[in-house]
Amino acid sequence: MSKVTVFGSFVVDLMGRTPHLPVPGETVKGSMFKMGPGGKGFNQGVAAHKAGADVTMVTKLGRDTFAGVALAAMDELNMKKDKLLYSDDVETGAALIMVDENSSQNEIVVILGSCNTITDEEVESITDELKQSEFLLTQLETNVSATRKVISLAKELGVKVILNTAPVQEVEDEIYDGLYMITPNEVEAEILTGIVIDGKENADKAADWFFAKGVQNVIITLGGRGVYVATAEKREIVPAYTVKAIDTTGAGDAFNGGLVAALSEGKDIWASVDFANALAALSVQRLGTTPAMPWREEILRFMGEK
Ligand code: ATP
Ligand code: RIB
Repeated sequence: MSKVTVFGSFVVDLMGRTPHLPVPGETVKGSMFKMGPGGKGFNQGVAAHKAGADVTMVTKLGRDTFAGVALAAMDELNMKKDKLLYSDDVETGAALIMVDENSSQNEIVVILGSCNTITDEEVESITDELKQSEFLLTQLETNVSATRKVISLAKELGVKVILNTAPVQEVEDEIYDGLYMITPNEVEAEILTGIVIDGKENADKAADWFFAKGVQNVIITLGGRGVYVATAEKREIVPAYTVKAIDTTGAGDAFNGGLVAALSEGKDIWASVDFANALAALSVQRLGTTPAMPWREEILRFMGEK
C-alpha cells in the first residue's frame, strides 16, 4: 500500500437539525444539535484513514479549544499528528450547518479561520512527506494560494494529485494541467465548465472540457444516483448503492476519502469507485460528517452483502 497525503481544512462542525430550513428572517425551533470535527480536508483524511489508507493529514489549527476537537479525534483514531500546522493568532475555523430532517438537504456557512492562513513556507515544510506519497488529495477549502502551492509542489515531485473542487470557485488553468483526477459534484462541474450535467451526453462534454485542460481522469459525483467516471479508455455512470439517507452532509468527502484509499491499495479506478460509493452510502445513513465515516471492516461487509 502506498502513502497518501491529505491536505485541507479542519473546522468544527456545529450542526443543527430542523423541520425545515429557515428563510431569511425566520427562526425555526430545531430538533437536535451536534458538535464535532469537520472540514472537507479533515473529513476526507479521516474517511481514507478509517478505510485503511496510510494517511498523513495536513491542516492548520489555532491554539484554542476547537483545535482540541481535531487533536482528540486524531488521538482516538490513532492518526499521525506530526504534520499539523498551527497559527498563534488566528483561531480554528467553524462551520454552521443546518440539515432539514425531512429532505436531508443542508445549508452551510464555513468560516475557515486558521485554514485560511497557510503560507507557502508551511506548504514547503511537508516536501519530504509529499515525496513519499503516491497521492495528494486536496480541495478548495483552504486559502487559494496554499492549494495552488501544494498542487504545484506535488506535481513537481511526481505525486498524483486528486482535486476535489469543493467549495467551488474558479480554478486557474495551471492548476488543472497535469491533475491525475478531478472530482467535482454535478453543480461544481456545471459552474467550472459551463455545461449543465443533465445526463451522460453532457457529462461527456464536461469530461472533454477537463481533458482539454490537461486533467487525466474525471469523476463527477451525482448524489444518490452515483458517479460519472471518464478515463482515457472508458466513460460510464456507476450507480450508487441503494440506502435510506438521513444526512448527506460530507457524502462527497466520504467518497473522496474512499477513492484515494482504494487507489493507494492498488485497485483500479473502477474498483476504487465501487469502494468509494460503498463508503459514502454507509456515511449518508449516519448523522454528522467526520463521525459518520465507517471503518474498513464495515465497508467490506457492506459490499459483500450487496
Ligand atoms: P456534500 O457536498 O454533501 O459533501 P457532494 O455534493 O459533494 O456532497 P454527492 O454527489 O451528493 O456529493 O455524493 C457523493 C457520493 O455519495 C455519491 O456519488 C454517492 O456515492 C454517495 N451518495 C450521496 N447521496 C447518496 C444517497 N442518497 N444514497 C447512496 N449514496 C449516496
Ligand atoms: O463537506 C462537508 C463539510 O463542509 C463540513 O464538514 C463542513 O465543515 C463544511 O466545510
